[in-house]
Amino acid sequence: MTQLPGLLDTEAIRKDFPILDRQVHDGQKLVYLDNAATSQKPRQVLDALNEYYERYNANVHRGVHVLAEEATALYEGARDKVAAFINAPSRDEVIFTKNASESLNLVANMLGWADEPYRVDHETEIVITEMEHHSNIVPWQLLAQRTGAKLKWFGLTDDGRLDLSNIDEIITEKTKIVSFVLVSNILGTVNPVEAIVRRAQEVGALVCIDASQAAPHMPMDVQALQADFVAFTGHKMCGPTGIGVLWGRQELLEDLPPFLGGGEMIETVSMHSSTYAPAPHKFEAGTPPIAQAVGLGAAIDYLSSIGMDKILAHEHALTEYAVKKLGEVPDLRIIGPTTAEDRGAAISFTLGDIHPHDVGQVLDEQGIAVRVGHHCARPVCLRYGIPATTRASFYLYSTPAEIDALVDGLEHVRNFFG
Ligand code: ALA
Repeated sequence: MTQLPGLLDTEAIRKDFPILDRQVHDGQKLVYLDNAATSQKPRQVLDALNEYYERYNANVHRGVHVLAEEATALYEGARDKVAAFINAPSRDEVIFTKNASESLNLVANMLGWADEPYRVDHETEIVITEMEHHSNIVPWQLLAQRTGAKLKWFGLTDDGRLDLSNIDEIITEKTKIVSFVLVSNILGTVNPVEAIVRRAQEVGALVCIDASQAAPHMPMDVQALQADFVAFTGHKMCGPTGIGVLWGRQELLEDLPPFLGGGEMIETVSMHSSTYAPAPHKFEAGTPPIAQAVGLGAAIDYLSSIGMDKILAHEHALTEYAVKKLGEVPDLRIIGPTTAEDRGAAISFTLGDIHPHDVGQVLDEQGIAVRVGHHCARPVCLRYGIPATTRASFYLYSTPAEIDALVDGLEHVRNFFG
């Protein structure tokens, strides 16, 4: 068995993930390499979800009965866990949403409806990058269309990094918000936050970071990032689907208007007008994803018990190994950084002129689960002149043996297609 320095004890960890024992296609061992799309869930999270529904289920913030109080304590307790996990200065800065897309749409809508000095309008500019997931492109396109603001973006270098050579022309005195991804879901690139934040702060622009592919894989410190908003999702970090997070700086959340109206986000309502509850409740209209938040709290406990720095080291070792092994496969082209430095554990590639969907299907027949397509980042495929990629992505339970299986599987794909 291949041993690499920095690896976690995956034999022990994998016992926590019942699904990893599955066989598919009549006895093929499952090799799950689609973690950037969604991670698997440990028994600890599954148990927390079950226990919540078996013992505590009630609506939150509304009841005087025991279950309502217990459910509220669990839901708000999950907020405390998220705040500690990302080193937020205050728990009130943690807004629960349904996913990272909703978190990013929330920021765009807050700014679209805001008063000065935050208001995005026809005299202002929005800055994103060409490597964004569609969830960090489309909300800004919608906002630009609605307000007349100009949408600008950083392009990409040939080796899959942000081209910041024109940073002073892209981020200007007119820029209201710079929104960019910390770790690309398609290229794996880890972006230079500091340089972008420094320039944004110089011109007084707000900064929003999409940390969907970062929060599951590395220690997160929103204070160190110096951003104004950070968005991520629970299901990629061992939590359930249906729960996302938007962290925002407290004074901004106090000043900015809500987006969705409804129960629980108000202070008073009359037939003429309403006043709003303080953040975070101002941004959480209606019954929130209670069980999902509890599940995310359990996922955070689980990841923290292993240690985010150790998870990062594990994935770095695997990525280094994978980049090397994949580099030896004839006709394979990695789309994105070709070294393990400054890259996350999602590796996209093409294999000769075999269509990625065919690659994915032949791998699947061997039990190997990867994602194929444009990965909700179509502008990246357009930039590199490819219709799609095959993407393998690792997590804390991934092993070098699974990377070997992928490489063998690709050999089989090549033989299959001659
Ligand atoms: N954003 C997810 C991915 O990259 C779904 O696969």
